[in-house]
Amino acid sequence: MIHPRISIFGLGYVGSVTAASLAERGCSVIGCDVSPGKVDQINAGKAPIGEPGLDELLQAQWTAGRIRATPEVDEAVRESDISVVCVGTPSAPSGALDLRYVETVSAQLGAAIRRKGTPHSVVYRSTMLPGSTRRLAAAHLGEGENPPAVYFLPEFLRQGSALADFRNPSLSVIGVLAPGQSVAPVAAMLDEATEIVAVESAELLKYSCNAFHAMKVVFANEIGRIGKELGIDSSEVMGALCRDTRLNISPYYLKPGTPFGGSCLPKDVAALVHHSRKLGVSVPMLDSLMESNRRHLEAVLERIEGRGRKGVLLLGLAFKEGTDDLRGSAMLELAAQLMLRGYEVKIFDPAVSPANLIGANRVFADARLPDLASLMIEDPTSLLADGEPRTIVVSKECIALEELGPLLRDYPGHHLIDVNGWRALKGVTASYEGVCW
Ligand SMILES: NC(=O)c1ccc[n+]([C@@H]2O[C@H](COP(=O)([O-])OP(=O)(O)OC[C@H]3O[C@@H](n4cnc5c(N)ncnc54)[C@H](O)[C@@H]3O)[C@@H](O)[C@H]2O)c1
Repeated sequence: MIHPRISIFGLGYVGSVTAASLAERGCSVIGCDVSPGKVDQINAGKAPIGEPGLDELLQAQWTAGRIRATPEVDEAVRESDISVVCVGTPSAPSGALDLRYVETVSAQLGAAIRRKGTPHSVVYRSTMLPGSTRRLAAAHLGEGENPPAVYFLPEFLRQGSALADFRNPSLSVIGVLAPGQSVAPVAAMLDEATEIVAVESAELLKYSCNAFHAMKVVFANEIGRIGKELGIDSSEVMGALCRDTRLNISPYYLKPGTPFGGSCLPKDVAALVHHSRKLGVSVPMLDSLMESNRRHLEAVLERIEGRGRKGVLLLGLAFKEGTDDLRGSAMLELAAQLMLRGYEVKIFDPAVSPANLIGANRVFADARLPDLASLMIEDPTSLLADGEPRTIVVSKECIALEELGPLLRDYPGHHLIDVNGWRALKGVTASYEGVCW
């Protein structure tokens, strides 16, 4: 493997670990930082930050002549093929992201790369909100005869185990500015499993991971506080929860699309939150679940309203495929809301027969949507063929693609909103949109 020459901008926590680790892989590394102290540390073979094993690794790579540092941007760019941006992206007092350091480095890099005049790549590792890499590239790196290839490579290492995480990353994803953009120039920074995605997806991925981690901690602590108040060992509860790798620690329930519903989740979340209140235990995250779910449904409604069509066909009503359980069904709620707002609603779901609903299922359906039977249709063909352009909301695969595709081709003009991530629908009509993609 060819080992490229790499310059690292920002020799803080991420930059030092990246610099030492890439040198360990055989790359020739030159660090660059505005802090003279950090530059001096690297040039003395010492780690500028405290991280287990970093001092030893840096010392070894420095002794082998593979790593040094400079305060000069031009020198760092001239002596490298790839520049990696690891400067800080702190929060402003308002919570807004402060991009001033990345902005400065990008401008400096752009000018130095133009002066250098030979092929160069820029890899952003600083955490930035979606759109930042593309904007910075356009503002600072796009001009000149030989503009650099630009990437966003999110960093997932954890302090305390950063070197091990760099060698064996939990996730490896690189963002590119255009489909088909080659990642060959930066192959030395990737591993075999690296997934190539749009740069904005890579940027959002980093935030999603950190938000997810924060959510996990808050969730465990809210359950912990409830447990403590009830005299229950929550570590035991959470330990057992984590042993379920099918529903709990798994991709299940992590698919953007339909709001949650059914006979259990809304009822049990409500009961837990209500009981916590009675106990005097504050659980703001659990408390926010129903409201967030309601807002998600509202977002679907707004999307339908945005199309400005009075006729709406819902494909799928029951909250789970193949069942006729309407209790807590988000689509039933959607139908009820649409009726209240004056829409002409029709529903197709072969698994649901209003005449056969019994027990709590019947009570729920009657309470939320007394007109249900008159809204259900047995075949969507005549509705789609009547010449009126409708919005079709698809919440589950209750009709075969081989049936729906020809219908939409023969009777064009309908708009499809997919709330379930049934991506094959994209291929059957140009008038398609997803609620979360
Ligand atoms: N610390 C982590 O665990 C971690 C993990 C993943 C991602 N990140 C992200 O990586 C980025 C860097 O984080 P960090 O913890 O290493 O930050 P840090 O504050 O430790 O280091 C940033 C370095 O950039 C230097 N710098 C600032 N302006 C510069 C310039 N114009 N030219 C050269 N150097 C300059 C600073 O002197 C400092 O040494 C942030 O966006 C952070 O969100 C951090």
